[in-house]
Amino acid sequence: MAKIIGGVTTSHIPAIANAMANGLEETPYWKPFFDGYPPVRDWLNEQKPDVIILFYNDHGLEFFIDKKPTFAMGVADEYYNSDEGWGIPTIPPVTGESELSWHIANSLVEDGFDMTICQEMKVDHGLTVPLNLMWPGHNYGHVKVIPVCINCEQHPMPQPKRTLALGQAIGRAVESFDDDLKVVVFGTGGMSHQLDGERAGFINRAFDIECLDKLVSDPESLTKYSNYDLVELGGAQAVELNMLIAMRGALLGEVTELHRNYHAPISNTGSGLMLLENK
Ligand code: DHB
Ligand code: FE
Repeated sequence: MAKIIGGVTTSHIPAIANAMANGLEETPYWKPFFDGYPPVRDWLNEQKPDVIILFYNDHGLEFFIDKKPTFAMGVADEYYNSDEGWGIPTIPPVTGESELSWHIANSLVEDGFDMTICQEMKVDHGLTVPLNLMWPGHNYGHVKVIPVCINCEQHPMPQPKRTLALGQAIGRAVESFDDDLKVVVFGTGGMSHQLDGERAGFINRAFDIECLDKLVSDPESLTKYSNYDLVELGGAQAVELNMLIAMRGALLGEVTELHRNYHAPISNTGSGLMLLENK
């Protein structure tokens, strides 16, 4: 049987890719951020997951605001990144896992989640930056990745109670897959951030830390928030917290927190790195 062994929350901002490409990890600005990552990299290299299910939001590369699936997932064998205008160098493709992807897609639709199913899909920084953080030098080709996109750009957006339920439905789907696969789930993005408008640069550390605590011990309590609450408490782009909530849903039961590094601000965001082991 396939088994979800753990979950990871991580920032996905494009500035990370530029910092890595330019060797800035040890500079005073970046060090407190990058210092959090070695324990998570070590755990992944020890556990050697076969598959990463990765929740992210497409920021306009594949789905622009004229066509915006609420929930989309890839079922391809390979995913390409392309130029998003951030100056990130061209990077190698990401390996897919079509068999488990199709199993999850079928199971989700049966379960009431009518996904947009993508046999071809370009993936943006929300997916590639976290993979590069975990396997620097873009050395992630050996890991199979299933991209799951949650709309966080264009209202109306799915609410935390729905994204937690999506994660749970994916967790059940994985558990009903016959092959012995080790799966880790990533939730990328967040935490508090506002990129534009009067409150640009707004960060709410206390709220971010409360969210990280609740993701560990009481994820259901996060479903009391609407997306407007998230915007008020964490800034306009704090809706990206939905990816972290979906990740936690997929872990289904109790978890053990193995590692955490909260640092803010990094660019315009609060960065919450957390490694959870599924009990
Ligand atoms: C930034 C944050 C994001 O979530 C993103 O997708 C792009 C940029 C930032 O703070 O720079
Ligand atoms: Fe983002």
